Amino acid sequence: MYVLYGILFLGLLFYFTEAAFGEVDGKKVFDANCKKCHGEFGRPTERGKSLSAPDFTNRIWQLSRTDEQIIQAITNGKGRMPSWKGELTQEEINAVARWVRILGPKTRG
Ligand code: HEC
Repeated sequence: MYVLYGILFLGLLFYFTEAAFGEVDGKKVFDANCKKCHGEFGRPTERGKSLSAPDFTNRIWQLSRTDEQIIQAITNGKGRMPSWKGELTQEEINAVARWVRILGPKTRG
C-alpha cells in the first residue's frame, strides 16, 4: 500500500513541476504549424519559397535577426507570413523561436 502512495505522490509531484517549469517542445510546435512553409529542417518548402520564406539554415540570415525580431515576426506576422498571436501561447512562441535558432548552422568551438 505504501508503495502505491509513494507512486501516487511522485506522480503528483511530477505533474506539478511539469506544469510549473515544463518546457514547451519547440520542435513539436514547429512541425505542427510551420513545417509546411519552412520545412522540417528550416529550408523553405516549395510553398514557402513561392511566398519568399527565408532559409533558417543560412548563417547570414541567422546573424541578421535578433531573438526579439524573430519573436516579433512570429507573434505579429510579417510579409506573407500569418500572425500567430491567438493561435499559439507566449510560451509556445518563445519555444518555437528557440527552435528556429536551433535549425541554424552549428557554430564550431
Ligand atoms: C503560410 C506559410 C508560412 C507558415 C505556415 C509560417 N511561415 Fe514563417 N514565414 C513565411 C514567409 C513567407 C516569411 C517571409 C516573410 C517576409 O520576410 O516577408 C516567413 C518568415 C518567418 C520568419 C522570419 C521573420 C524575419 O524577421 O524575417 C520567422 C522567424 C518565421 N517565419 C517563423 C515561423 C514560425 C515559427 C512559424 C510557425 C509557428 C511559421 N513561420 C509559419 C511563411 C510562413
